[in-house]
Order: sequence, then C-alpha cells, then structure tokens
Amino acid sequence: MIAAVVQRVATAGRVDVELLVDGVAVEVSAAALEVGDGTVCAGEWGPWLPGFVREALQSLEDQRRLGIHHTPSHVIEELLDLLEQRTGPIDAHSSVLDPAVGGGAFLLAVAERMSGDRREIAERFWAVDIDPIALATAHAALSLWAGGPVSTGRFVLGDFLAVSTSERLPDRVDLVVGNPPFLSQLKGPTARNADARAALRTRWPDVGGYVDDAGAFLLGGAERLSAQGAMVLMQPDSILAASDAAPVRARLQNVAPIRGLWVEEVRSFAAAIDTVAIVAAPGDPGPVQVGRVDAPEPSPGSWGHLLAAARGVPVIAAMSEGPSLAAIAHVTAGFRDQYYGLVDAVVDDADGEHPLITVGLIDPLRNRWGAVPARFAKQRFQHPSVDLDRVEPSVVDWIRARLVPKVLVASQTKVIEAIVDEVGCAVPSVPVVSVEPRPEAPSLWHVAALLTSPVATTLAVLDAAGTAMSADAIRVSAARLARLPLPPDRGAWDEAAAAARRGDIDECGWAMLRAHGLSHRCDVFEFWRSRCPS
Ligand SMILES: C[S@@+](CC[C@H](N)C(=O)[O-])C[C@H]1O[C@@H](n2cnc3c(N)ncnc32)[C@H](O)[C@@H]1O
Repeated sequence: MIAAVVQRVATAGRVDVELLVDGVAVEVSAAALEVGDGTVCAGEWGPWLPGFVREALQSLEDQRRLGIHHTPSHVIEELLDLLEQRTGPIDAHSSVLDPAVGGGAFLLAVAERMSGDRREIAERFWAVDIDPIALATAHAALSLWAGGPVSTGRFVLGDFLAVSTSERLPDRVDLVVGNPPFLSQLKGPTARNADARAALRTRWPDVGGYVDDAGAFLLGGAERLSAQGAMVLMQPDSILAASDAAPVRARLQNVAPIRGLWVEEVRSFAAAIDTVAIVAAPGDPGPVQVGRVDAPEPSPGSWGHLLAAARGVPVIAAMSEGPSLAAIAHVTAGFRDQYYGLVDAVVDDADGEHPLITVGLIDPLRNRWGAVPARFAKQRFQHPSVDLDRVEPSVVDWIRARLVPKVLVASQTKVIEAIVDEVGCAVPSVPVVSVEPRPEAPSLWHVAALLTSPVATTLAVLDAAGTAMSADAIRVSAARLARLPLPPDRGAWDEAAAAARRGDIDECGWAMLRAHGLSHRCDVFEFWRSRCPS
C-alpha cells in the first residue's frame, strides 16, 4: 500500500525516490514492498508516513495554488486538547469529517484518541480533498492505522464548497476537524472562477463570493454539525478582525458559536500568514477560552480582542453601553494640512507664547517642553514655539481653535500618555490628539485621569488588536479616544483627578480602576504599569 502511494506521488511529482528498508535500497514498486504488515513498511512514522511523502513531493506552485501546508502533529494535538477541554472528550463512536484532508494527519490524530475496534472507528471517518493524490494518501494512512484497507466510499474527491461534493457527504457529523486551504479571493491564481463565486453567493448571500476559502470551510463545516457536535478548524488570523469576514463571524455565532481560540505562538507553516484555530459547537454563545483565560463572548464586529487576549493583554468587557469621552469633550487631531501649515511657523523661543507640543514631549502627566529637545519638520528645537503670524492662512483658524484649556495625548506609545494644558496656550503638533472638555466635563483633570488609566490603555489595545497588532505601540486616533467609556463611580473618579493633578500616576491608575468598578483587576493595573515609561 505504501509502495503504491509512494509510486503515485513520485510519478506525479516526476521525481526519483529511493526507498530504504532496513538500510537496504529497494525498488519502489508494489510488488517489492507488499511485505505483509503495513507498519513494517511505514517504519517509525507509522501511518503518518504517506502524508510526509506526499508533502515532500509537492511543487511550490502546487502548494500555493491548493493551499497545501501540512499541519505539524504537535499543533494538531494542541487543537484537539482545546476541543476536548471545551466540548468534552472525543467519543469513540463519533462520525468525523475532514473537509480538506491532505495526508490525513487530523483524522489519524482523532483516531488515536479513540479506543475500540480500529476498523469500526475508521469506517465512521469521512474525508474530502480536491487532489486525488491527497485522498489516496489519506486513505492509505487510515488503512495503515486500522490494520487493513478501509472502504473508499467515504473518501470523497471534490471541492468541499461545491454542491456536488456536499451531496455525497452525510447531512450531519459529530466532529469536523482540519486545516482547510487559506486561499485569498482578492487576486491571483488562488481566486475562484465566476461560477464558483456565484455558487457561494447563492449559499451565503451576505458573505459574498470573495470570502477567503478558509472562512467558507468554517461555515460549511458548522452547518454540517450534529446538535452535540463540535468542530476545530485552522484559519488565517484575518478571520478574527477583517471587516470582510464579519458576515462569516455572525453566521458562525448563529450556527455553532466559537468556544475556544488557539493562536500560533511560533509560526509553524511555510505560509506567510499568522494562523489561529477556532473551536466551535452548536448551542448558546458564551465565553471563549483563549490559552488559560476565558474571554467574554465576542460580537461579530471584531474578534480582535481574542487575539489580544492570546498575546497576554488582560481582557475587560467593552463597556460600550454608557456615555463615552465624546459626551464631555471634543476630541480632534491635525493631519497633513495642519502639519505643513506649521512648518514655517515654528521657532526656537524659550519665552514663546505658544509652545508646540510634539509626541516626544508628552509623558504620562508630565510635559517635558523645554526640558528635552524636540524634533519637528526634520529640525531640532529646545523650545519649539509657534509664531501664529507665520502659520499658513488655510489652517490658522484650526490652530487658533486649539488655544483652549485641554488635554494633549501622544500617539504610537505603549500606554495612553496625556498632559494637561491648563492655560490653553499650547499648540498640538501632528499627530498629537487634542481633547478639549465641554462644559459638561467635571474638570480638565478628570479628563486627564480618564486617559491616564489602566482601563483606557487596555481598552485601546483590545480595540486596536487585529488591525495593527504591533506588540507595542497603540495608535491613539481621535476616534478611538472618543469611544472610551466614562467611569460610573464619580467619587473614585474625583480621587483619580486629584491624583492626576498631583502627578501621582499610580494613585491615579488605582482610583480609575475603582471608578470603573474594576478594583479587583490587579492584572489590568500591572499590564498598564509595566508598559508606562519609567
Ligand atoms: C492546508 S492543506 C491541509 C492538509 C491536512 N489537513 C493537514 O493538516 O495535513 C489543505 C488541503 O486542502 C486541499 N484543498 C484545496 N482546495 C480544496 C477544496 N476546495 N476542497 C477540498 N480540499 C481542498 C488541498 O489539496 C490540501 O490537501
């Protein structure tokens, strides 16, 4: 059997293979290798051998076109562990489907977790692949495992997403496992043809024909699960936060909500994509296990916070119901026009009326203007000051409108860093964000405290996760700051404001946690404090 597979893959790949049995080279032919017990031929790799052979013989071009990246066995074990933690031990009587079976590694790993008659177990396994060699490989692998040929009827050759393939599969299975191809539909050789796109659009009209194949496999798998069923499928991490994938996330939550998320720590695949795996099962949605933490149930908008949680960011619920910073402050930032409008207006003047505040001059609750030099428009200034008469006329009104008491916030920092301009004379450089309290605001210092808070930083990191999850810097956009929630406990917020006025960052941070009803969340404080500049 092994010989047959090796021969087929070798012929398809137009390569010469040398096979050694007990150190002696033998001819690659069924006759030469039909030596009784298959495990003898398979050696220490056992039933996994055919899959390794197939993978080794793939051309790079085929790997790209078909999305072939075999899954390392330690990864499969981690995924099945997570599946069992979330949905209970794998039942030896389960029917199992791998919709993109490749060499059969997932089915083998599931089989290894079942006890009972191996033939009977293997006869409940279903496999689909678009590549006949893959299917032959998986069949050989499972037959080796079962100790004899398993019937071929449940090894279905075809495109899992095509109706003609669907019709040859059972309506319901208990387990769906696998690593479907990640094929971007935006361009290139992996894009579907018009017919295939139209077929997908008929099946899932809101998802559209341009969804990445992996997302379509997720839906196809979920819709085939029995009521007690469960699924674990690998996915590109874009499934978590890309807006294109929002309809996939919404549908999945209706059919088989996400229960667990596995995130690749070390890139194990040749594909230049960060990989995750989703455990899903029918029933009511609930918390999602990510590593050792339980993250709250996600909304379809983005599951990026799950990714952040996997990377050690403490998870706090979005708190989106109550009023936000936008209710008590106008939040704005200059852009290209404001930057160029200031270029000829900045001078070095220790007595300047309008200090220019660049990102580099802002530390949490500490304005370093004059204490350290600043760079603006490729020049260095010890006391950068704006001469209003020299500001480009088209932006002078915008600059003058900033001359009010305000809080200025740096961008691309590890925590939200804010300073207070009580007098209202400072000019924000670009991209400094200006937060200008409305009459409804309790005080400038309350606004500064709200920003100098473990809660604000953690929410901003969670909010940004999945879009630009550079491990460190937070892109502090005006829109993101405007969404920050106001704390419900006014007494604690007053204390935080007083601490901010004293420049006491720690006390401000603890009081803000109390103000948000999160005084027990030392992890949130520690996360924030460890990122603050020393
Ligand atoms: C990433 S590999 C995974 C292989 C296997 N699950 C493993 O981990 O070893 C993806 C497999 O999907 C197959 N494939 C690609 N497009 C497919 C489609 N539309 N339907 C079914 N299988 C497909 C490829 O031939 C390849 O074997």
